[in-house]
Amino acid sequence: MRSMTKRSLKARGSRLKATAFASSLQPPASSRGRLIITIDGPAGVGKSTVAKLLAQRLRLMYLDTGATYRALAFAASQRERLNPVTDAKQIAALGRRLPLRLLPLAEGGLQVLLDGEDITRQIRTEEVTEAAAQISQHPEVREAMVALQRRLANHHGVVVEGRDTGSVVFPKADHKFFLNADSDVRAKRRQRELKRLYGSRPPLKQVREQIHFRDGLDRTRRVGPLVKPAGAVAIDTTHRTAPQVVRAMLTHIRPT
Ligand code: DC
Repeated sequence: MRSMTKRSLKARGSRLKATAFASSLQPPASSRGRLIITIDGPAGVGKSTVAKLLAQRLRLMYLDTGATYRALAFAASQRERLNPVTDAKQIAALGRRLPLRLLPLAEGGLQVLLDGEDITRQIRTEEVTEAAAQISQHPEVREAMVALQRRLANHHGVVVEGRDTGSVVFPKADHKFFLNADSDVRAKRRQRELKRLYGSRPPLKQVREQIHFRDGLDRTRRVGPLVKPAGAVAIDTTHRTAPQVVRAMLTHIRPT
């Protein structure tokens, strides 16, 4: 030990840290005994609509992992006034003790409660959307969120949607789907969603740029990037309605 230089000790320390981080991201040993279905894909492919429908159809729990990043982004940027780009450590610490509850709504969506306060609408604003995209870049934040998502999915069966649910959160899921769609169609869907949420429709060019920016962050990050998970069934939703996508999924889940 005495012969170790400062540099080698430092290298050993960061190796240990990397190992600790990798092991904390290890998936649960098996999903046996409960049905886990993952749906991943970029923004605007219709993941949420499809995941809610599928969960209703199969009477499973619905878990929107994007909502966990959004809730943390809201808590960090609006409540704690942390910087989403530079305050990774503090945001991860906040994520580890986030008093978050997701309650199923009758129409299939989720009510998002932070320390008992309903923040369902606040987490969909443009500011929170951007902060969520930024905080989700930090490995230590992802580690905290993956642990939270696994705890929230503690149910006899679950449909989970996000960016890394089939690759990192539940790599042993029973069924994995990866959705994609033409970028113009995705931008139009997002524009319609914003109109539904806030009553105003931002210009398509602006929505397209925001989606392009988020796609870049999602696909290039070091930990938990957006990828088609091994063993996932790819479905292009460009010319399909949500019920058609669900029907296509059901043919894989319950082959006749
Ligand atoms: O799906 P969404 O737009 O609600 O996701 C919000 C942000 O969270 C988005 O910028 C990507 C990030 N996210 C992630 O990194 N991993 C997930 N599993 C889900 C969402």
